[in-house]
Amino acid sequence: MAFVVGEACIRCKYTDCVDVCPVDDCFREGENFLVIDPVTCIDCGLCVPECPADAIFAEDDVPAEQQEYIALNAELAQHWPPINSPKPPLADADDWVDTGDKLQYLVR
Ligand code: SF4
Ligand code: F3S
Repeated sequence: MAFVVGEACIRCKYTDCVDVCPVDDCFREGENFLVIDPVTCIDCGLCVPECPADAIFAEDDVPAEQQEYIALNAELAQHWPPINSPKPPLADADDWVDTGDKLQYLVR
């Protein structure tokens, strides 16, 4: 099992999660989304309460409508570079944090 970043992260990317993750290179960064590498995640759960968007779930707790994010995290983690230090969120993150249906905005 691993932890999974879900759709609430898209267009927000607060990166508080990265600050607490004890594993180097576990979070991977895209232009407007982060994913967790399921191979390196040690299932500590520390990142979950840190996310202002409540975007992170244990794999078994991923909501039914976000199941595709399990495979999406695994896929994109193989292509995106690691992020090991937090950075400022995207400029309009607070405008998007409560918006649903954000997969259409994912930049791969
Ligand atoms: Fe990192 Fe732990 Fe979150 Fe996995 S569960 S991404 S190891 S903080
Ligand atoms: Fe995304 Fe939340 Fe981390 S918005 S970057 S999963 S703190």
